This record gives sequence, structure tokens and C-alpha cells, in this order.
Amino acid sequence: ASSYPFHGAHQAGILTPAQRVATFASFDLTAAGRSELTELMKTLTDRARFLASGGTPASVGITAPPPDSGVLGPTVPADGLTVTVSLGASVFDDRYGLSSAKPARLRTMEDFPNDDLDRSICDGDLLLQLCAHNADTVTHALRDIARATRGAMQLRWRKDGFSSPPRPTGTPRNLLGFKDGTAHPALDTKAAPDELVWTHAGGDEPDWVEGGSYHVVRLIRMLVEFWDRVSIHEQENMIGRRRDSGAPLTGTHEFDDPHYASDPTGDVIQMDAHIRLANNRSPQQAKQQMLRRPYNYDSGIDVNGNLDNGLIFACFNQDLERQFVTVQKRLIDEPLVDYISPTGGGYFFALPGVRHETDWYASGLL
Ligand code: HEM
Repeated sequence: ASSYPFHGAHQAGILTPAQRVATFASFDLTAAGRSELTELMKTLTDRARFLASGGTPASVGITAPPPDSGVLGPTVPADGLTVTVSLGASVFDDRYGLSSAKPARLRTMEDFPNDDLDRSICDGDLLLQLCAHNADTVTHALRDIARATRGAMQLRWRKDGFSSPPRPTGTPRNLLGFKDGTAHPALDTKAAPDELVWTHAGGDEPDWVEGGSYHVVRLIRMLVEFWDRVSIHEQENMIGRRRDSGAPLTGTHEFDDPHYASDPTGDVIQMDAHIRLANNRSPQQAKQQMLRRPYNYDSGIDVNGNLDNGLIFACFNQDLERQFVTVQKRLIDEPLVDYISPTGGGYFFALPGVRHETDWYASGLL
């Protein structure tokens, strides 16, 4: 689509089919108190509403700097832009007097075994996930928002991602060469996202979280030079799927069921294959499924001249603990860990949607 609706019970950029380009930008808030935080949220809302709809920026004065960077020309196209705003646990410390309103599961991201986290690219107060069809649209949006919010938040870390077009068909591929995004929970009814994606008020959750979602981002480096020296047979066993077609090793076509019941001891799909550990398709694990929305990254080279490639693993969860954390714990020490290295990211809470023209981000919280 050329544009996605901005207003609604939920934010765009979650159920939205993944656009080709993304940036994940984490900010530290410098807003001095509750009223400055409220102003920030209103400014963010105004900018996101404009950018996601497109239009002509206000006219240029003679002496003042122009209101728009001009990067997208005189009229800003929506270009499929979605702006998804999420808050980190640190917003709910004493600074803003919001500790009693913290989403129940929100916390800074822990170190999992085999992680190699650089804390300067972890967490943050506010995460912007910007996705669009083209890279200049994402760049323009980030610059516009950073300019409008300069006094109240400061960039902390950022990672740019891209999604491949179908090669040759269907699901995009990650930089290990495998299709990534084949197995998704069925979310095409209203009931399914209500059980797996959207967080609800009640129980231990505060009222304002209704319609939001726990947003996990993991920056996972891929040791691609090392991976490229592994036989195709071994690669496929680690994942549990064929590299060319994406089919499970027990099947023929990408969307075939893995039929674990017919392979109970892992003769075909190993018991510790990535897909089998992530989801063994038992009824117990059905509620642990998450909405994955990953992007590839290519950040040039490291200090040793090795390719700095990887995956921005992003996913949305109704319940951080029941879904992402449970699955991530099962993946500890999977064979794939020798070829990947999580370096950053964080846990965030994607705000409920901006419902109408006079509503604004986090209005239920503030
Ligand atoms: C499936 C790769 C990290 C959870 C897959 C598939 C591939 C893949 C190739 C099969 C295609 C598909 O169904 O989408 C990777 C790589 C990773 C990574 C290369 C790291 C660089 C993670 C992490 C998690 C995760 C951190 C969650 C903690 C899943 C799940 C599935 C999956 C839930 C679907 C399993 C199913 O329902 O059959 N991954 N993955 N992955 N992955 Fe990952």
C-alpha cells in the first residue's frame, strides 16, 4: 500500500506486512518532567501523523530555516511509512512519577547465555521503529522527528535494516540464505491477535496498556564468513528447513507442516534444530508463538575487516515472559549459537494506537 492508516486502536508497523526498509532508533529522554514528557508525546504524534499521511510542509519563510529537510522533494509522500513508538522500562523509574503504571512485564533486557551485549546499544527510554518502502523515506522521517523533538530526547543507538524482495518467491531471506518468516501464528482473525499480540488491561497490567504490545528487538550479528564454510547439509540441520525452498526437512513445500509426530526422535529434523526448539507445534507451545517482524542489517565491516552482517530480530508479544523469553530460553545452546552473536537491542512496550485526530501517544498513561 502507498500509505497505512495512522489512527486506530493499535499502532501501525506491527500487523502491517513488513515494508522493505526499516530503522530502529532508541532515544534517551531529556524531558525534564511530566509536562515536558506530555509535550514530547504530542509533538511526536503530530510529526508521525503528518509523515505517515504525507503532504506539503508549511511554506518556507524567507529568513527562517525551511520546516522540512527537502530530502523527499516539495511534497512528502507517505511511501508506506509506519511509525511505531515504544517505551523502555527506564521511563517508569522515579523521574516521571510513572512507576505504578509500568507494564507488568517490562524490564531492561537481561543477558542470555551466549550473548555478547554491548550495553551502549541496548535498551533506551523510547524506541522508534520506522518502516517504509524506500530508504530515503525512513531517513527523512527520522531526521524530521529528531529535529522536532530535540529538546526532549536524544539518540542513544540506531540500527538500519532491510528486507529482501521474494527470492525467487514468497518469504524474504535472511543473510544466512534461509527464508525467514515462514511460520507465523495465524493472525487473520480478530481473536488471534487478541490472544498473541495485544496486551490487555486487567490482572497485573495497568488499564492504559490495552491495545499495546511488548516489542522485543535483538541485534544479532551473523558470523557469515564462518557460516559460508559450513556444508549445506549441516546448515539445513541447524535450521530444520531446506535453504532453497524453505520446506521443513520432513516436507516438500515451504508451508508444509513439519509433522514432528512422524519424526519423534529427530531422525529428520533434529530435536535441537532451530525451528523445532522454537516451536514444537504442541498445544502447550501454541500460546508461546510471537509475531516476528525481522530485518536484515549490513553495517559494513568490523575493526578486523570482517563483514558486520546480521539480523534485527524484532517481535511483538502479548506477554513478554510467556512468549519471547520462554522461546529464547529454549534456544540457549542450540547449534546455531556458534554462528550468531547477539550484541544489543532491548525490551520495549509498543504504545496503544492513537485513536483519532485529537488523541496522542500515551494519552492513557499521561
Ligand atoms: C524460525 C532463523 C533468531 C524464533 C526461523 C527460521 C529461520 C530462522 C531460517 C525458519 C523460517 C521461518 O519459519 O521463519 C533465525 C536466525 C536467527 C533467529 C538466523 C538469529 C540470527 C530467533 C530468535 C527467536 C526465534 C532470537 C526467538 C527467541 C523463531 C521462531 C520460528 C523461527 C518462533 C518459527 C518456528 C515455527 O513455528 O516453526 N528462524 N532465527 N528466532 N525462529 Fe528464528
